[in-house]
Amino acid sequence: MTKSICSFNRIKLQDLNTAINKTRNLSYLKENLKSLAFRSIVPKPRVSEEIITQKKRNKPNFLLRSDSHIVQPITDKNFLFPLLNRFQNILKDLYITMEDIKPPSRVKGMKILQKGEFDTTYLVPAVKIENERIKKFLQENKKYMLKQRAVKPIIDLENGEKLILLNPSSKEYLQDLQLEYHNLELHYENFNHLDIFQAILPDHLDRVSSYSSIGHILHLNLNEDTSEYKHLIGQVLLDKIPYAKTVVNKQNVINNTYRFFEMEILAGEENFITKTKEHGCIYELDFSKVYWNPRLSTEHQRLVSELSPTDILYDVFAGIGPFAIPAAKKGCTVLANDLNPESYRWLENNVKINKTKISTYNLDGRDFIKTALKSHLIDIWKTNNKTNIHVAMNLPALAIEFLDEFVGLFSDYSTTLPVGEMPVIHVYGFGITEQDVLTSVISKLPGLQLDDLQLRTVRNVAPNKNMFLIKFKLLKSILFRSDFEEPPTKKKLCSN
Ligand SMILES: C[S@@+](CC[C@H](N)C(=O)[O-])C[C@H]1O[C@@H](n2cnc3c(N)ncnc32)[C@H](O)[C@@H]1O
Repeated sequence: MTKSICSFNRIKLQDLNTAINKTRNLSYLKENLKSLAFRSIVPKPRVSEEIITQKKRNKPNFLLRSDSHIVQPITDKNFLFPLLNRFQNILKDLYITMEDIKPPSRVKGMKILQKGEFDTTYLVPAVKIENERIKKFLQENKKYMLKQRAVKPIIDLENGEKLILLNPSSKEYLQDLQLEYHNLELHYENFNHLDIFQAILPDHLDRVSSYSSIGHILHLNLNEDTSEYKHLIGQVLLDKIPYAKTVVNKQNVINNTYRFFEMEILAGEENFITKTKEHGCIYELDFSKVYWNPRLSTEHQRLVSELSPTDILYDVFAGIGPFAIPAAKKGCTVLANDLNPESYRWLENNVKINKTKISTYNLDGRDFIKTALKSHLIDIWKTNNKTNIHVAMNLPALAIEFLDEFVGLFSDYSTTLPVGEMPVIHVYGFGITEQDVLTSVISKLPGLQLDDLQLRTVRNVAPNKNMFLIKFKLLKSILFRSDFEEPPTKKKLCSN
């Protein structure tokens, strides 16, 4: 290979000298110098990307400086194409790969979307196939065809033949073909959002690769560094993600009571009422007024998978129902509560549209435990002491605080009440380490030992902030304890 590049360079130097003298069109040179000549002919590692413009007798003259010598590149189209065909065996190895097909480097740092700036051209390998052979060719070679967004890889030629554009990365396959070179024109429409963000955003910024979808809403969590680019990012996502109609950025301000975020519209319509699906259930919601996090989808499924159809679920911080509704669909008896009137409204709506039966409450979590949960549990224990009882408490910033509500919950019944299965608590908490949350749980429930607790890390929420699940069976001694101090009666409105 080294040998052929050397001989190629010798031939090229002569021919290129002739070619450069033929060229008089400055804008053509500017447009095509890199994509036609530099990218295709000159081996990349040998040539620096520096382009020197010189004025010679008032005529433009373009030079590429290589490590060892100055190479004058081919810049005349009429000269270039025959030459390309002549050197095609060498070119096969020097050719661009799919990774090289990107938006032009001039878009780096763009803050206001100018779609025209994405226009560019690349030479891609192609083969001419007669009409009679096309069907068979496609059957056998489909996987080698060029796959670029919104590019048709089969072009009708005037003589009835077809030109098939090929994937330039398939080097071995290309070796055996009689290749043509097609000047592929690409525009904004031909790049996906990841290509575009990579091309636009300065290299030191975090990649914008992830967003959450809630129905038609795309939800981003951009940091300060990207703030100059945020509207452009929103517009690109709106253009590129087919179902997106609204793109929002989560503000740092969190609504302290009901755990939903303030949001800023980056692009699209201001409509937050949306519909989403999770594990076969439908949820309608107003994303600007209630809590919803698609990243908890696995957690919702995991908890519900632990329930049997005869079990009972008390969901203290139910939101719009992602534990409660699938549990009820499974056959469980469910009591679901949320303090946010909007969550409660959408919870009721979702119970209905999923055709489930759930008792819903709009209470503070402590009141729910003291009233609805307590009286329902008493009835269950009276009639069936074998039923499994689960309590879901997903308000990670504060739920552990609510655990003391179980201390002495049944102290007024201690002698007479028939007692069945003890409730299994699934409580979520934030902490840096596992020890943080385990210690907080133990401190709330006298008599509970570390060995009684199971812990699982749900997800890393931020640097130094993890979400944990702590699961344990309540002790009878805790529920019936009588020598305890009443938890403060003052209602707490909660942040997460
Ligand atoms: C983190 S969200 C979880 C919602 C739902 N379980 C889920 O997984 O999507 C916590 C919920 O608790 C509700 N909440 C906050 N403080 C509350 C309180 N004191 N009593 C009852 N619900 C509360 C919020 O409105 C919110 O819907």
